[in-house]
Amino acid sequence: MTGIYLDNAATTFPKPRQVGEALRDWLETGAGSPGRGNHALALRSGDAVHRVRRGLARFFGVRDANRLVFCCSGTDALNMALKGFLDEGDHVLISSMEHNSVLRPLRGLERDRRIRLEVVPCDSLGRLDPGDIVGRFNERTKLVVVSHASNVAGTVQPIGGIGTAVRERGAYLLVDAAQSAGVLPLDLGALDVDMVAFAGHKGLYGLQGTGCLIVGDRIRSLRPWREGGTGVDSLSETQPRAWPEAFESGTPNVPGILALGAGLAFIEEKGIDAIRGVEMERCSQLWEGLAGFENVEMYGPPPGEDRVGVLSLNIRGWEPGDVGDVLNSNHGIRVRTGLHCAPLAHRTLGTHPSGTVRLSPGYFSTPDDIRKTVLAIGMLARTLVAG
Ligand code: ALA
Repeated sequence: MTGIYLDNAATTFPKPRQVGEALRDWLETGAGSPGRGNHALALRSGDAVHRVRRGLARFFGVRDANRLVFCCSGTDALNMALKGFLDEGDHVLISSMEHNSVLRPLRGLERDRRIRLEVVPCDSLGRLDPGDIVGRFNERTKLVVVSHASNVAGTVQPIGGIGTAVRERGAYLLVDAAQSAGVLPLDLGALDVDMVAFAGHKGLYGLQGTGCLIVGDRIRSLRPWREGGTGVDSLSETQPRAWPEAFESGTPNVPGILALGAGLAFIEEKGIDAIRGVEMERCSQLWEGLAGFENVEMYGPPPGEDRVGVLSLNIRGWEPGDVGDVLNSNHGIRVRTGLHCAPLAHRTLGTHPSGTVRLSPGYFSTPDDIRKTVLAIGMLARTLVAG
């Protein structure tokens, strides 16, 4: 049933052994609600959540762990950042490789005439030139939003240089790290980045339904994206201001957060560079194997350039969805096809509106998985030639 799983950009699978163990332990030994009561199980959960928060803060070079807010997803974290930070009249710049989770909230704010949005074009491999951002600054430019690694083509943006250029002009940088958190080193102590949003279930090996927003010291205030019970300051009829509670209303997703902690422990045990090394080896094997078929067109930077292991392709004469269906049904190969919730990125790559077939191997993909995938795609590519 599992087959060959090449959809790690959507969610990593399988999860490391530690993740299942953490969940079993939580179910069997007590699942209290943190901050909701002073009994032993509530306190135990509270300590566990705090440990994961501290561990993630350390991993991302964040000095104050309270500035790491647990969210429901990467999208939730991005909404929190965008809707909490932007004010009437602000000018916002985004790259043309952004996902709908950035584009849609911003288009909504634009439609309500709250902000002005400008899209900065990337080149046909999805690469953003920091100079092109700088050229579009005006006196109202407050925020630049860039996805660190593309969920369509794997392109990695130079967020260090972009952050410095943005900061020199007094604006702020929000990084969508959905595809890079846990995959690429991200030391916020060393980078000029003001906010980072990511999901917990991709490169960090946690579960769906988790995400984080990290907010740097330069951001003095953020409006809460949702309000309600926080477990603190219950006498007050208004939302508390303390971090992180102000942004975490509602009972936290304790199993999700513990799974995230276990995923992080796995990364720290293996080493982020070793994990990335495996993913890039699989990506290179795919790229080299598929480069031999003249009917296969691949998008994004080739291996060796700044990229992660997300590879998009098309087979001439085939609709991407049909390729995905045949791979799934006939070969047990699981990939994602179409627009990947990123129509803007597909316009940039020249693959709009049909999209692409996206292959995203992960740490648990084997060389044999890749060999079989190359064979299967090669068969489809030749089918057309023969027909
Ligand atoms: N954004 C995720 C993907 O690219 C879900 O598949």
